[in-house]
Amino acid sequence: MPQIPQTLHELSVGQLSARSGAAVSALHFYESKGLISSRRTSGNQRRYSRDALRRVAFVRAAQRVGIPLATIRDALAALPEERTPNREDWARLSEAWRRELDERITQLHRLRDHLTDCIGCGCLSLETCVLSNPDDVSGDRITGSRLMPERRQHPAEEQEHG
Ligand code: FES
Repeated sequence: MPQIPQTLHELSVGQLSARSGAAVSALHFYESKGLISSRRTSGNQRRYSRDALRRVAFVRAAQRVGIPLATIRDALAALPEERTPNREDWARLSEAWRRELDERITQLHRLRDHLTDCIGCGCLSLETCVLSNPDDVSGDRITGSRLMPERRQHPAEEQEHG
């Protein structure tokens, strides 16, 4: 990555892109979402303060662990005077996000297990398929796991056994 001279206090979008590794289009998107900001030169070109480098690094790191942009924006907006997150901010926020990540991993494991059960089935039944109707919106699913021994007969089994 190209070094930006310390004496340079503002970066063009190209410099910010080259230094941060984020595509120019991603930087424009971040800006449109209020994650970074710039001023315009008299020639209507964007100029970012050096702080934007750290903000972009923060946004990209959070995105890599699947934190939604809205959550990232809220976290940035909650910092005093909307300052760029420092080391302590990142430590605190990443700790909270780790808990969210753990919960998502648990949910994904659950979904993977249900998907395994769906493979080769194809019923997509609102009554019995947990992936088709994860919230059991009509309350049709039997209480507890449909994999419990007393479960209702699976539609694919009904077809098989007539
Ligand atoms: S497709 Fe999910 S249980 Fe049949």
